[in-house]
Amino acid sequence: MTIFTYGKEHRSGVSPDVFVRFIHAAELNGEAAIVGPEIDRSLRSSYKKKRFLAGHGQVEIVPTLGLHEAEHIAFVGYEPGQGARGIRLAGAAAAKAMKSVGAEHGEVYLDPASFGEDCSACGAEPAAQALVEGILLALHDRRPLLKEPNERFRLQTVALLADEASNMPGGKEAWERGMERGRTIAEAVCFARDLTNLPGNDLTPERLAFQAEELARELELDIEVIDEWTAEEQGMGGLLGVGHGSVNPPRMIVIHYNGASDSDEVWGLIGKGITFDTGGISLKKAPGMEEMISDMGGAAAVLGAMRAIAELKAPVNVLAVIPAAENMPSDRAYKPGDVLRMMNGTTVEIVNTDAEGRLVLADGLTTAIRRGATKLVDVATLTGAVMVALGYEATGAIGNNDELMGEVLAASERSGERVWQLPAYDEYRKLLRSDAADMKNGGGRYAGTITGGLFIGHFAEGLPWVHLDIGGTAWLERDRGWEPKGGTGAMARTLVELVTHTT
Ligand code: BES
Ligand code: MN
Ligand code: ZN
Repeated sequence: MTIFTYGKEHRSGVSPDVFVRFIHAAELNGEAAIVGPEIDRSLRSSYKKKRFLAGHGQVEIVPTLGLHEAEHIAFVGYEPGQGARGIRLAGAAAAKAMKSVGAEHGEVYLDPASFGEDCSACGAEPAAQALVEGILLALHDRRPLLKEPNERFRLQTVALLADEASNMPGGKEAWERGMERGRTIAEAVCFARDLTNLPGNDLTPERLAFQAEELARELELDIEVIDEWTAEEQGMGGLLGVGHGSVNPPRMIVIHYNGASDSDEVWGLIGKGITFDTGGISLKKAPGMEEMISDMGGAAAVLGAMRAIAELKAPVNVLAVIPAAENMPSDRAYKPGDVLRMMNGTTVEIVNTDAEGRLVLADGLTTAIRRGATKLVDVATLTGAVMVALGYEATGAIGNNDELMGEVLAASERSGERVWQLPAYDEYRKLLRSDAADMKNGGGRYAGTITGGLFIGHFAEGLPWVHLDIGGTAWLERDRGWEPKGGTGAMARTLVELVTHTT
């Protein structure tokens, strides 16, 4: 699928089978021509009957019956003033409308009145980026693994049409740059989603490492894959403890991206890579357990972000660290009452083998620090409790440094991926005190997302650190906006915005 832009005077030869028109309610209240007298009349009648009120992202599809060169017109409600998030949502609505009529060639008219206003407010580059991201992210969904794969959805081209190319809001060059950035980032997110959707039998820790190796080869980046023997030598007791119950051995994956040799700053991005979480000896209940194929959503977000960061040639240094393991019950599995010695020497009493993410992440943080990371962001489907607090609407955040937290929250504003900070009061740490070791791995029923986060923070060794709990956002049961059901790739774009932001 390709997206391109042109001005009306340069329209290409392909005639669209669907024409998308962003529309503001004020236009429906008025009398001015929209697309043509008959269609305008029917649209305004829908509006009067309150059937189509042109709310943001609301879609009205009209068959044109020969009154327009396109077979269908899709009107997409557009309320300016909602920033890049609003643009991204409108792009997603437009894409879904084009898909729903089975179009091959779509055309989206960038109306200067509604869309143009936001474009000036956001800047041409972020606006183009948001629009392209919205379209491409909304078109991507989970492909079932079938005996006979069904035909792929047909949309081949999407043309973005402005009144004049030279009038492209904010200037043609910035606009094209934004489109390119949006394409790169959207493809990276789709890569993260596809990884997340792979079943646990296809994506073992070894296979996840293989995927990372392939990615590193494509991007020409250095990669280390630490196997169970080397992990043993390096004392990765958390990773090994969690992985021990499975025949599929754990891996610690480290990818190096050096885009700023003159800088000492190194981002450490650590992604939870539990390829399947049964809970282990503290076994989970059966209903919904299949969703735990997404327990490597943090790893997917980090790998997706690395892909975009490298493709954008961002002038920064990044270490991606993925502790990968399968959490299984078996005769050799770790169990409640065990005491694990983590890579940095800290001892941990296991009270629940289902609190495995923090154990592998602890060794992940230590690995990042030993390799020179100077600030740390971890992404993890860490707790079910984050869904109790925030539902599916936001990723929970906790950290030890206001400046870094501010940067993460600002990045999430740009990406449109909602992040909500939770408190990290010292009192919560008491919940992790143990009689058997330095800490225990579970803090009880209350404040589960916070105690889980603070456990990980213990291993930051005082470096600036933010933890992002995507327990409610990495996987969706129904699609929304630009996100499909299944794996969402949540936080991949926020990480890219965070790391590539320059002021
Ligand atoms: N991967 C789960 C968290 C999870 C559950 C994410 C459901 C998304 C949907 C994690 O490993 C886990 O099991 N956490 C426990 C922690 C508890 C035992 C302290 C939880 O949330 O119940
Ligand atoms: Mn678990
Ligand atoms: Zn888990």
